[in-house]
Amino acid sequence: MGYGDYQCMDENGIREDGRKADEMRPVEIECGVIPVADGSAYIKWGKNEAIAAVYGPMEAHPRKIQRQDRAILDVRYNMAPFSTSDRIRPGFNRRSREISKVTRDALESVVDLELYPRSKIRVEIEIICAEAGTRCCGITAASVALADAGIPMSDMVVSVAAGKCNGIVLMDLNKPEDNYGEADLPMGILPMTDELVFLQMDGDLSMEEFQVAWDYNVKAAHEVHKIMVEALQKRYGGES
Ligand code: CDP
Repeated sequence: MGYGDYQCMDENGIREDGRKADEMRPVEIECGVIPVADGSAYIKWGKNEAIAAVYGPMEAHPRKIQRQDRAILDVRYNMAPFSTSDRIRPGFNRRSREISKVTRDALESVVDLELYPRSKIRVEIEIICAEAGTRCCGITAASVALADAGIPMSDMVVSVAAGKCNGIVLMDLNKPEDNYGEADLPMGILPMTDELVFLQMDGDLSMEEFQVAWDYNVKAAHEVHKIMVEALQKRYGGES
């Protein structure tokens, strides 16, 4: 199939996987899945699956990486070799370094790092099954894992991505839509204020399309946030 041949939507406005334009794939989250970690979360997002584990705060080693006034976040995003049909070569590559960095930057804007001078908080994200949108899965799971570890945060970062395929703005592109699509707009949103802490854009969107994609992302972020809170309540009890 060529790029021009893929039809993401039927005549009734329904996508191949049964969703409407502004609909997310189903999201499930569970906390505390790695008993030896200080905090952890499993996320299933459509066919994507990921685990985030948090260790610390602990003393940062070697001392040259320490910051006297705050903790550092040591974030690693990794795709398991079996997470896609093409085996991923184990170890860091350019893409995993980039995603680790943008994830760290997004999380740093909410974690109260000044509480833990000279310390390190380790955040490990492992993608078990990948079907487009894994950076959003990773950031969202890491936020829940940090909350599960009891790390003080001003809010949880919810990461979601709208995109464009066949000239139509679509929420949460799946793999074929991502492959044949024209744009992808992952964002990190703070649900208490709708502030943005992370934005990347792949491809082209007009100003109008950008606004629609942003609105879709904000709406979806609130839906995902509800699932994040429910996962934490399931483990710890209490009302939101
Ligand atoms: O996963 P995300 O959308 O955040 O990042 P991407 O770089 O746009 O990758 C899109 C998708 O391509 C991933 O979710 C995987 O399904 C797939 N991929 C792959 O199969 N092999 C890679 N080495 C990288 C990505």
